[in-house]
Amino acid sequence: MPDLSEHDGATRISLNLERDRYDVIVGEGLLEKLPELLAEADPGAFRKRAVLVTDSTVGPLYADAVSGPLRAAGIEVFEITVPAGEASKSMEVVTDVCRQMLRAGLDRKSFLIALGGGVVGDLAGFAASIFQRGIPFVQIPTTVVAQVDSSVGGKTGVNTPEGKNLVGAFHQPRLVVADVTTLQSLPDREYNEGFGEIIKHAAIRDPALLSRVEALGTRRENLVPLIARNVAIKAAVVEEDERETAGVRALLNFGHTVGHGIENAAGYGRFLHGEAISLGLVAAVRLSVACSSLTEKEGARIIAALRSFDLPTSLPGDLSRHDIVEAIGRDKKFEEGKVRFVLLRSLGDAFVSQTVPPRAIEDVVLTLYAP
Ligand SMILES: NC(=O)c1ccc[n+]([C@@H]2O[C@H](COP(=O)([O-])OP(=O)(O)OC[C@H]3O[C@@H](n4cnc5c(N)ncnc54)[C@H](O)[C@@H]3O)[C@@H](O)[C@H]2O)c1
Ligand SMILES: [Zn+2]
Repeated sequence: MPDLSEHDGATRISLNLERDRYDVIVGEGLLEKLPELLAEADPGAFRKRAVLVTDSTVGPLYADAVSGPLRAAGIEVFEITVPAGEASKSMEVVTDVCRQMLRAGLDRKSFLIALGGGVVGDLAGFAASIFQRGIPFVQIPTTVVAQVDSSVGGKTGVNTPEGKNLVGAFHQPRLVVADVTTLQSLPDREYNEGFGEIIKHAAIRDPALLSRVEALGTRRENLVPLIARNVAIKAAVVEEDERETAGVRALLNFGHTVGHGIENAAGYGRFLHGEAISLGLVAAVRLSVACSSLTEKEGARIIAALRSFDLPTSLPGDLSRHDIVEAIGRDKKFEEGKVRFVLLRSLGDAFVSQTVPPRAIEDVVLTLYAP
């Protein structure tokens, strides 16, 4: 497990990877402390010029809170705002961001700050990985999804018309600053969406996290321990299997085989990612009961937790099962005719199974239509 330490009400999770080490700091009111946090993290990397990449929703809310203290500390900050939404995760926008940086005179010695949700983190992280062959970057995630998932682990990239996240790079941030105060301004739907991934983390690794989520419900209080625990789980998995070669990182795909199928079949915009994953988790839970040793009772607890965040647990009748099954079949986890499917042996204990019959997956999709 990664090192965890507490300081001033903030929790610090240290990642030790093969070539990189960095901290994820989870706390309240951290934005204004950024200059100190940067100086502590790496006085060499964070020099005089920064580019702050954000989106059109997050920028007006938080860009000044980030840029102000940096400028006061003598760091020049150039701001780039991309339109909010998944459509910004494209090669076109990456090119535009890089060209704006060049025109602003940023060079190899500059660093990048990604302020926003997973879209900004993935897009700006990718720009940082290729700009001048790679510059340091800092993640300031502002959604639940970004704080517990996308800002940690170094996967960056964009979508193309051929598919999501197919072009990208591993580029680890030098520091991640997860200020939970920013989560207060998230709309309910986006807030709840993040609990799809949180409940997934609990299901694969941490029964106590499920109890914590059940006790907290949708109240946005005392979020530091909750977010920090999720970061620690994600960090532990990334540490064990940084480049997804050992199979451990694949456990994070629990619920994602069917979830991605639903996301793709439904088309862009109908379900948020976490909502599609909620349905995928229901499917994976049912398969874990049918094909492994998860008990009905454990499964019901996971599904009830999803429901308590208003996440969908059954499919609308107008979505075609044929389309979903076809989309699952195109998924990369089905390479070489082998179905790799993550199942639970029990709550907190996940494994990759190669023996789930494709037929069972088709059947479980059918069960999702029952209300
Ligand atoms: N790199 C990874 O390992 C990884 C992991 C999971 C997801 N992702 C990617 O992350 C993306 C999804 O991330 P997301 O769910 O954060 O979406 P997002 O970045 O689109 O944010 C959701 C919406 O919330 C707004 N928003 C963000 N922070 C806000 C705040 N504090 N207050 C008010 N509004 C705010 C955004 O402007 C946006 O409209 C997807 O592209 C997905 O592929 C990547
Ligand atoms: Zn996911």
